[in-house]
Amino acid sequence: MVAQGKCTECTQIEAAIDAIIEQKGPEPTSLIEILHAVQQELGFLPQSVQEYIAEKLNMPAGTVEGVVSFYTFFTTVPRGRHVIKVCQGTACYVRGGKRVLEAVVKHCGCGVGQTSEDRRFSVDIVRCLGACGLSPIMTVDDDIYERVKPTKIADILGKYD
Ligand code: FES
Repeated sequence: MVAQGKCTECTQIEAAIDAIIEQKGPEPTSLIEILHAVQQELGFLPQSVQEYIAEKLNMPAGTVEGVVSFYTFFTTVPRGRHVIKVCQGTACYVRGGKRVLEAVVKHCGCGVGQTSEDRRFSVDIVRCLGACGLSPIMTVDDDIYERVKPTKIADILGKYD
């Protein structure tokens, strides 16, 4: 007979979420803080996790889903170890930002908002990083790259494991 019940990993994840909810306060007003902390812990917010949080806070799952989909800093798909942000603001775009993005997408083998198959990189776009004079700009985690050339993408991304 197959044993019924949750797998060990699910139990551990739920225990971690429980601890976060306890720490932030088990109230609907703590939802955003809780979601932030859980995303930091797990790397993303899958549907099952959103439903678990909703149940714990006694609120509709649709409300949690609405908050997660409203804020761009929440993600429902696993993120890569490094997050690339390519600026597509006007200055960067006209000075080659589009070609930089194309080179990044080609190198990573995944589209914008997606994660490479090896989970090394996630690719995002931003609308302006406030350094238009140094365009086109891209960042990898906390590193900033200025006046990026598409031909340098392989060298730049090669520094990250
Ligand atoms: S448009 Fe890219 S930094 Fe401003």
